[in-house]
Formats: sequence, structure tokens, C-alpha cells
Amino acid sequence: MPEVSNAILGTILASPCAIVIFGATGDLTSRKLLPAIYNLSKDGLLHPDTVVVGFARRPKTDDEFRQEMLKGVNSFSRSRPADNTPWNKLAERLFYHQSTFEDAHGYASLATRLADLDQKYGLSGRRLYYLSTSPAEFSTIVHQLGEAGLGNIDPFNSNAWRRVIVEKPFGHDLASAQELNQQINRVFDESQVYRIDHYLGKQTVQNLLAFRFANGIFEPIWNRRYVDHVQVTVAEDIGVEGRGGYFDTAGTLRDMLQNHLMQLLTLVAMEPPVSLDGDAIRDEKVRVLKSILPFTPEQVESLTVRGQYVRGDRNGQAIIGYLEERGVSPQSHTETYACVQLAIDNWRWYGVPFYLRSGKHLKYKGSEISIHFNRAPGVLFNTPQRGAGANVLTLRIQPRESIGLQINAKRPGTSTAVTPVQMNFQYHEAFGSYSPEAYERLLLDAILGDSTLFIRRDEVESAWNIIDQIEDSWAVGQPPLKFYAPGSWGPDEANQLMRKSGRYWEEFPQ
Ligand code: BG6
Repeated sequence: MPEVSNAILGTILASPCAIVIFGATGDLTSRKLLPAIYNLSKDGLLHPDTVVVGFARRPKTDDEFRQEMLKGVNSFSRSRPADNTPWNKLAERLFYHQSTFEDAHGYASLATRLADLDQKYGLSGRRLYYLSTSPAEFSTIVHQLGEAGLGNIDPFNSNAWRRVIVEKPFGHDLASAQELNQQINRVFDESQVYRIDHYLGKQTVQNLLAFRFANGIFEPIWNRRYVDHVQVTVAEDIGVEGRGGYFDTAGTLRDMLQNHLMQLLTLVAMEPPVSLDGDAIRDEKVRVLKSILPFTPEQVESLTVRGQYVRGDRNGQAIIGYLEERGVSPQSHTETYACVQLAIDNWRWYGVPFYLRSGKHLKYKGSEISIHFNRAPGVLFNTPQRGAGANVLTLRIQPRESIGLQINAKRPGTSTAVTPVQMNFQYHEAFGSYSPEAYERLLLDAILGDSTLFIRRDEVESAWNIIDQIEDSWAVGQPPLKFYAPGSWGPDEANQLMRKSGRYWEEFPQ
């Protein structure tokens, strides 16, 4: 049971617990997790007795670990550098536990250490395990936690809980995701498992539900009668950033579409949930995923595009090609760009194409969803001479967090020509610049036992089911891999895919 239904209420609601981070010497810990924990502590949202234990292979003292984490906070926290008082308070409760992930002794000594910390800080057996390792380690760690009795809840201690956050990628395909689910479920009940997708921690993504269901005027037109098509773009202006080894085994379809873009799609396309309860929302999201029409190999050929960036330059700066990246096979066919047109076969969306695209080294960084409405009939203004466009509602997730509606306005002057203009709502203007990082919200929700913003087992499996159909054809070279220059919008085939039906990708930034 969640301790409260909504995490961000501005007061301390969380009970003290131990957060154990597996893979504590990795990038994610210093760039995201510790800065998030630091900000939560500083803002008074974590209980002051909360302790953090980093678990990793390399030998290190508690003090060395604290110094490294301080560096991380100073470099990556949204509020930086760290303030002495809150940092010192957190550092006192920050520990390092050295062990390989396979070593049963390491988990036995972890159990002893956690029991001591329970006593010292009154944690009552409340533990959040964060799997921030390579996915190859997930099942070993979970198995070892189970063997050491760290997965079970003490039946005589009703205050205790054990939860596990699993980082992405969750599996490599449907079969491996199912296997991983089975392995995890041998130790943890589904209610204890928190599969993370950091996009769900973004305020603007959460606002999708508020936008749709807290306003009366959009829902009546949010369907096939009024919507021509929907575009979801997650564009990055960076490459693989030293993660070539991992990325080359994944590709953009698995790394981005299977999770982040599918999540955005479900939030846009779902029916109103019966409540804001985690399962009510996730039931509706799963329904969307299950309504996506399966792809035949011929449809994969005509409705998807895959691309890879080559060597080039952006704004005078030389960019190495994907094949030259460290950890990438020189013969790699892995895509750094993916575009997919899919169809949702239900009463609301029948006949409305959804276009999803994502890529690295594209022209701009930006995650946006645009809803393109049917054009007004042509007799009055909607003629080539008068220049009216379709109404487009754009939900800008990042970095220009805003919502814009494109409308047609009469151009000043004596003619009756119209021109598309933007009505814009900017988050920072309305609410100031405070915006907690995605990991802050997600960590706090997990501590509070609210799994709404985490991915349920059937959700992750349904998403893989669609991705697998595409991957099967891509694996045999259909459609062929296309190449694109860094700083472009990806292969032109993605534009052609739209043009075939007289549509265009939304240009941004606007
Ligand atoms: C991660 C991917 O999940 O999301 C990365 O593994 C990608 O490849 C990142 O760069 C993008 O996240 P954001 O929040 O910067 O859009």
C-alpha cells in the first residue's frame, strides 16, 4: 500500500529506509542517483535517518566513496555546488560495501551491515534496492538477495518493506524480458518490483495526464473524428557518449522506442483511467499497447526507417561516425535513428497514424508530441492562396518545456489571407524554474510505495512484443540501413514516409 497517494506534497512523508545501490561506482550513481538523493534530503523530502549504501566491486573506503559522490553532486546536481550542511548530514549516512555481484559472502555481510544500520537509525527493515548495474547482472543480484534472505519481509515486523528498482534496459526482447520477470518474481512479488523509465519522472510527461483529464475542452476532440495524425519525436544532439559497447547491442529501437517513446504514446492514446491509482492508469496503458496492430514483414519494410550517423561536422566541430565510436563494431548495422509508423486498432484511434522517431546526433535536442488536427474545410480560408494550416497542438517535454497550439490568424492588411501562429504556455513563466529531476520523483515514489510511474510486468512485455516484430525484419536487413549526417534530421526516408500521405514532420524549435 502506498504510504500516501501523491509523493510531492512538500513535507516529510517518507519513513527512514536503507537505499542500497548496486553498481555504485557507475556513471548513473554519480550523475543522477546521488544528486537526486542529495536534493531530496536538502528539500526535506527524505527522512533525515535515511541511509545509502553503495555496493560495487572496486575496493574503496566509505570516505573515498563520499568524496566521489560529492564530486558527482557538485558537477551534476540541479542545485550545485553542494551546500555544506545538507551534504555533511547526508555524507554521515553514506556507506560503501565492496563485493562482486556473484559472491554470496558479500550479501551475507551486507545483511549484517543492514541489520546494524536498522538498529542504529531505526529503519525497521525498510529497504530499497536499486539495480544500477549492467543488465547482465540483474538476475544474479536478485538471486543473491533472495539467498541471503534480503528479499523477504520479516512477518513479525509489519513496518518492514523490501522494494527493488530495476534500471532499463529491461530485457533485450520479449523472451529475455519474460525470463527476467520470472527470475525477479522468484524473489520479489510484483508489488515489490519498480521498473524504471526515467521519462515518467519528468514533470512535463506527468502533465500529459493533467492536460488531458483536468481540462474539459480537449478530450471531446481527442479521437479519430478530429485528429489527422500524431507525431512523437525524441531527438538528441549528442552521440553515444562513451556507451558504445552497450549501445551497439541495443540500437535506438530498443534503447528509446521500446520504453520512452512507447510510454509517451500510451499516455497520449490511453482512455481516461477510472482513478489516479497506479494500476488503473497502467491498465489503460497496457490496453493501448495491446491495441497496436501487429506488423507483417512487408509493413516493417514500408512503415519503418532505420539509420546510422556517419562522420561529419556540426557547427564547425568534427563528429566521428558511429562506426568509429569506442566499443562499436566497425561492421555494425546497429541503428542510431529509428522511425516507425504504427496504428492503434480501437474505436478512438482507428485510421489515425502515429509516427514515432528518435535518433542521436540530430539537428536539435528535443522531445515533443504533436497532435495534428484535421484541416478546416477549404472554401473560405483553407485554400492555397489564403495559406491556412492545420491546427497543431504541441506538447514540448524538453528542453523548452511548454505547450503550444498552432492556430490560423488573419494577417494584418487589406487581404483576407491567414497565417499559422502559435499560442504558447511556458512552464517556467507559469511556475518559475523549480523542477525536480526525474530521478528525484521516482526515488521518492518508490520509497513511498507508489508504483504509478513505474512500468508493470505486462506493460514491458507488451511493448517488447511490438518491438520484436520490427527487430525480426531489421535483423535480416529489411528495410536496409540508411546513413545520415550529424546535425541533420536523420535519413530522408523518414520524410518520404510522411510525404507518401501528404504529411510532414513538425519542425522545431519554434
Ligand atoms: C536513456 C538512453 O534511457 O535516455 C540514452 O539509454 C539517452 O541513450 C537518454 O541518451 C535520453 O534521456 P533524456 O532524459 O536526456 O532525454
